[in-house]
Amino acid sequence: MSLLGTDYSAYTSTDRLPSAEELARQEEMIGRAGELVLGLKEKLGRVPTACVVTFGCQMNARDSEKLCGILERCGYALSEDEEADLVLYNTCTVRDNANQRVYGRLGHLHAMKKKHPEKRIALCGCMVQEPSVIERITTTMPFVDLIFGTHNIYKFPELLVRMLEADHMIVDVWKDTPEIVEDLPVKRKYAFKSGVNIMFGCNNFCTYCIVPYVRGRERSRASKDILREVERLAADGVSEVMLLGQNVNSYGKGLEGEVSFPQLLKEVEKVDGIRRIRFMTSHPKDLSPELIEVMAASEKICSHLHLPVQSGSSRVLKMMNRCYDREGYMDLLARLKDAMPDLSVTTDIIVGFPGETPEDIEETISLVREAQYDNAFTFIYSPRTGTPAASMPRCMSDEEIKDGFERLLSVVQETARMRVRRFEGRTEEALVEGMNDQDPAMVTGRLGSNLLVHFAGDESMIGKYYPVKLRENKGFYFVGERE
Ligand code: SAH
Ligand code: SF4
Ligand code: F3S
Repeated sequence: MSLLGTDYSAYTSTDRLPSAEELARQEEMIGRAGELVLGLKEKLGRVPTACVVTFGCQMNARDSEKLCGILERCGYALSEDEEADLVLYNTCTVRDNANQRVYGRLGHLHAMKKKHPEKRIALCGCMVQEPSVIERITTTMPFVDLIFGTHNIYKFPELLVRMLEADHMIVDVWKDTPEIVEDLPVKRKYAFKSGVNIMFGCNNFCTYCIVPYVRGRERSRASKDILREVERLAADGVSEVMLLGQNVNSYGKGLEGEVSFPQLLKEVEKVDGIRRIRFMTSHPKDLSPELIEVMAASEKICSHLHLPVQSGSSRVLKMMNRCYDREGYMDLLARLKDAMPDLSVTTDIIVGFPGETPEDIEETISLVREAQYDNAFTFIYSPRTGTPAASMPRCMSDEEIKDGFERLLSVVQETARMRVRRFEGRTEEALVEGMNDQDPAMVTGRLGSNLLVHFAGDESMIGKYYPVKLRENKGFYFVGERE
């Protein structure tokens, strides 16, 4: 199908092959892309560079590692500089400001491309799964060379070949896919920790959320594939894994004879070399008593749970289609804290949902005080085209929303500061993640609770674990001393 001179195969899924064959085909494409990149190298007189910029969540960050792995295999030198010969934006569309940032930055890339016409600009990720976005880019931004979606990133080698050979925009976006392709090359950002996808997509359709539309239906990976990946990561020096999915608690549903999420955690726990296990995100409606038991008994699962509440008003939760009410959520939290008194809990909250009133915001603020979160990410509701909430009437003015948001934020900060005090003077194990940005004589480590601690050290400590005495409470992080 052709549209405005672009090679437009959006919403088709014609040439799908079973994953082993598909993988072999993409391997072949890596070879062909490699030859084209070599040609480019000769022309430029240097190794061509590629820069991948990630917007959005951990899921996108993991996808970017796969994209970087492929680019490196094709002969590009990876760079953080957007002056690179190829710039790829892996986009997010969960709120409109994420989209606006991408449009703004595309303008800058266009200016660069005017000076260096061989520069290639590619877009992928959640934002381009929206037809209105494709429409806008294909009609107003002809300087973009390649657009592909969330369902066909495994075809990136082939798309690279097409882009490098074409003189027009290539668009290849699929609506959904039942397929999971295993074993793509990966270039990890960190040597010592890694995300591991356990499922893709989402079936929950919270009324405000665009993720199910842009990431498709929920698909779990086979546990044997997940465990094989974790084992390989461990053999490669990774000691911390984060299991990723939009709703990890419903892992395995729809797969015949597959284990549940708590059982999967128990299997991951058995992998030698893995010292820390994290997971994201847990939907409260599917969090089972078995998960609480497994977490409480585990040596490796970190003492941190991200449990998005979204609102403290049962009326709003119902309109959001979250499938729990305030009481149910607070009861779950009480059971978690009973089993794990030191558990750090973080959450997500939306303010300004259509139909929400200032009284509902008061209920959210009172829930935050009761729940005593270690931290909360607060967002102003952003209408997303095609979601049910986008056509619901709103009850509050911008002023009321802003005022409620600020009051909520100050309570979130107050409770977070209170919670962090329990760590004062304790000795905790920290995994050193890098050098401190401000002080070259300090390293930055992360505790199991997800709290950061800065302490004296050097580069040789990165990726290792140290007991650290938490001396100075800086509000949201600590300055400590190696014990
Ligand atoms: N699957 C996760 C959330 C993924 S999106 C879960 O169910 O918890 C991350 C967060 O973005 C959500 O928890 C929500 O708080 C926020 N969010 C999603 N859609 C939004 C919208 N339209 N406006 C504002 N915030 C939104
Ligand atoms: Fe969005 Fe809800 Fe799915 Fe989370 S569970 S991704 S908020 S629809
Ligand atoms: Fe954004 Fe897509 Fe993640 S919309 S939050 S990058 S799943």
